[in-house]
Amino acid sequence: MDVLIVGSGGREYSIGYALKRDKNVDKIFFAPGNGATDDLGENIDIKDLEKLADFAKENSIDLTIVGPEDPLVNGIVDIFQDKGLTIFGPTKAAAQLEGSKVFMKNALKKYGVPTAKYIETSSIDEATQFINSMSEPIVVKADGLCAGKGVIIAKTKDEAIEASKGMLSGESFGDAGAKIIIEEYLDGYELSIFAICDGKDYIVLPAAQDHKRLLDGDEGPNTGGMGAYAPTPLVNDDIYKKVEERVIKPTLKGLESDGIPFSGVLFIGVMVVNSQPYILEYNVRFGDPECEELMALLDSPASELFLKSATGDLASANIKFKDKYAVGVVLASKNYPYGSSEPAEIIVDDIVHEDLKENTYIAYAGVSKDEDGKLLATGGRVMVCVGLGSSIREARDRAYMLVGQVHFIGKKCRMDIAYQALDKLN
Ligand code: AMP
Ligand code: GLY
Repeated sequence: MDVLIVGSGGREYSIGYALKRDKNVDKIFFAPGNGATDDLGENIDIKDLEKLADFAKENSIDLTIVGPEDPLVNGIVDIFQDKGLTIFGPTKAAAQLEGSKVFMKNALKKYGVPTAKYIETSSIDEATQFINSMSEPIVVKADGLCAGKGVIIAKTKDEAIEASKGMLSGESFGDAGAKIIIEEYLDGYELSIFAICDGKDYIVLPAAQDHKRLLDGDEGPNTGGMGAYAPTPLVNDDIYKKVEERVIKPTLKGLESDGIPFSGVLFIGVMVVNSQPYILEYNVRFGDPECEELMALLDSPASELFLKSATGDLASANIKFKDKYAVGVVLASKNYPYGSSEPAEIIVDDIVHEDLKENTYIAYAGVSKDEDGKLLATGGRVMVCVGLGSSIREARDRAYMLVGQVHFIGKKCRMDIAYQALDKLN
C-alpha cells in the first residue's frame, strides 16, 4: 500500500521509519516532511488540506496518517473522508478534545473522569473570585491551541490573577485565551498513556514518560519534550486498569453517545496522585518524543495498527510490542527553546559496533539538506537518538552511545533521561 504521512517532526519520521520496515508498504509520502524524511520516501509540499486530499486521491494513497494536532483540529479527517479516503485520526468534532481545553474539561466532568477541580470563565471578576478561594499553587490554562505554552503554574494568587488577565485580554495568546480554565494544582508524577481507538474499540500502548523541562533534574523552562522512555515501571497493572475503567472506557462511550465517536490516538496526560490517576489533559495525536520510542517497540507491521484504526476494525487486530525498553534522547540546537539557531552541519559517525547498529536509530526532526545534500540542523529539536534494550539501563546506555556518535555545533541534550525509572529500580 502507499501511505501519506502528514507532519514534519521526529514523530512523523519515526512513523515513516516503522512503515519502511513493513512489507505491506510500498511507497511513503510526507507532507511536508523534513530534510531526512526524503530518505524514507518522497516529500510533498502541499499545505492546503483540500489540495492535499486531491493529491491523495490522484495518487491512490491507501492510508493517510496525521502526526500533529493542527490539521486534525482544522478538520483534515473530515475533508479526506468526504472524498472517500482512508485516514488515521479523529474528526474535527472529536479533535476538540485537544483544540479546546474547555471542551475537554467539560467532557471529563460529564463522563465522570477524574480530573483537577476547575472553573471555566471569560470573566476576570469570576476568575479572581475563584483564585482567591483556592490554595497555592494555581494552574491557569488558555482554552485554545498555544503550541504547548498556554499553561501557567502560578506560585501565588497574584501571579494567577495576572496570568488570567494576560490571557483574557488577548495579550498573551490572542483568541486562544478568550476563555480560560483555572484549576487546582495536582502534586504527583506524570505519565503519557496512549490508546489507539477506532470509535468503539481501543488498544492501550506501553505507558511512556516524557521529560518536558530543558535541564537535568527537571529544571529550566518547559520544552516540547527533551526525551522519553517506555514502558515506564511507574505504571503497574492497577494503574493501567484504573485508567481503562475510569478514563478510556467512559470517555469513548460518552463521546460515542454524544455523536462524536473517537478514532486515532487518544493521548492521555495522567498525573498519579496517591496511586490514583487524574487526567491533566487529552491530546488527539502521538506525543513527540514518545512516538519515537513506541514505534521502536512495535513488533507488528506498523500499517496494521494505523489501518485497522482508520477502518474501524481494531477488534480484529493483533498488535504486539517487543518485550523490551526504549529510551529516546532529544538533541536540540544551541538556542532551543528560546529562539532559532544558525544552521549547523550534522555529522554522524559510521556506526561499526553491531550491537549499537541493531539496537538504535535516529529519528530526525529539525533538519534540512543543503544543495550538496549535506544534512543541517535547522530546527529547535534536531533529532531523537533512540536505544532499545532488555532493561531501561541498557536502552539508556545505547541511546547515549548513539548521542556520542552525532556531532553538530551547539548540540545539547539532557543527560538524565529515564532517571525516575532508574531511581525506582535502584
Ligand atoms: P497540559 O498542556 O494541560 O498538559 O499542561 C502542561 C503541563 O503543565 C503538564 O504536562 C503538567 O506538567 C502541568 N500541569 C497542567 N495541569 C496541571 C495541574 N492541574 N497540576 C499540576 N501540573 C499541571
Ligand atoms: N511530548 C509531549 C507532547 O507531544 O505534547
